[in-house]
Amino acid sequence: MTPPIKEILIDRSELQRRIAALAEEIDRVYAGEELVLISILKGSVVFLSDLMKELHLDVEIGFLYLSSYRGETAFHSGVQEYLLPFPEIAGRHTLLVEDILDTGASLAYAWDRCLAKNPRSLKTCVLLVKEGAEKEGVPKADFRGFDIPNVFIVGYGLDYKEKYRQLPYIAVPDISE
Ligand code: IMP
Ligand code: MG
Repeated sequence: MTPPIKEILIDRSELQRRIAALAEEIDRVYAGEELVLISILKGSVVFLSDLMKELHLDVEIGFLYLSSYRGETAFHSGVQEYLLPFPEIAGRHTLLVEDILDTGASLAYAWDRCLAKNPRSLKTCVLLVKEGAEKEGVPKADFRGFDIPNVFIVGYGLDYKEKYRQLPYIAVPDISE
């Protein structure tokens, strides 16, 4: 199951430490409030699962299933949504949980989708921000884990052709095709 790896970019203990710190920040910002976490499938489930275990707030979770990749490493513009029941977020503090900001198309789509439901507040929590990903039209990462170079990575929820999501670290795969 382990892919050919060029480099481990972020190991398991670095991930754990940073996610615990992010959870502390989130606990502080929403102290005394309830929070709805919206996780963007499939990539962010591993992050969501670790993050929510560190939170002391009352949280509800919901999912948005988006796809913006063809299944390999090539990006095609446009985001496709596979409809799932959407949690009730009107009048509630809502936090979008995303694995990575790359082109930003997924987060921008999710942002608009949530905003249309009139949440009490809307913020984003992004584990990885790729270099160059922050630009106009892309929602900013309010809570952010790591800034990383603009390279293709796998692990901790992120896939290459649907594989390697279960790796407990983030790695640069050695893909020569
Ligand atoms: P976007 O380009 O910011 O819309 O990112 C879309 C989605 O593509 C992310 O939620 C990830 O699931 C996936 N993605 C982006 N960059 C990578 C990568 O380096 N490896 C694997 N998946 C990625
Ligand atoms: Mg993917």
